Amino acid sequence: MELNKQTAQQALQEASESNPGPWTDHSRYVAEACRNIASKCKWLSPDQAYILGLLHDIGRYAGVSQEKHLIDGYRYCMERGWEKAAQICISHAFMIQDINTSIGKFDISEEDYLFMKEFVANAVYDDYDRLVQLCDALAVPTGFCLLEKRFVDVTIRYGVHPATIDRWKKILEIKAYFEKEIGCSIYTLLPGVIENSFC
Ligand SMILES: [Fe+2]
Repeated sequence: MELNKQTAQQALQEASESNPGPWTDHSRYVAEACRNIASKCKWLSPDQAYILGLLHDIGRYAGVSQEKHLIDGYRYCMERGWEKAAQICISHAFMIQDINTSIGKFDISEEDYLFMKEFVANAVYDDYDRLVQLCDALAVPTGFCLLEKRFVDVTIRYGVHPATIDRWKKILEIKAYFEKEIGCSIYTLLPGVIENSFC
């Protein structure tokens, strides 16, 4: 099945019907942030960035879960031949390429865990992986927000993990990387970020 904006939107719509929740609005804002930032990066396609952002949490179609949604999303996309989207379903949770830095519970089989461990260690990330990692931390279900607000939101829900600070540092590094490339603050590309961060 060809992956384009329409098929990605359709996939998210079906997934939201199968497991309704705030994750679908979060995904839409992640997609929008990816598109807006990519539109300032000549080497990236805004449409491709939008699609990859839209699908990063698609594994949640299978129900409420923690790290299981990563592998569910990977399989969902691989079954359709969407290889890059499949990689990002896993890579968005591993800005540090080490399975031990995950903050969620591994509610998966031993076999799946070992697969994911190898996958994360060996994946070659490009700027699409990094862009989704960044934008995942820029969007809550009500809109765009300051990275630091999302950091606290996630930490309250998942708890403090030994890798928490290193994960934050990595995201801040990715933010600095994109800002150096585009020559302005990423927040200027996120409409409503001030209102949504301070509400
Ligand atoms: Fe997400």
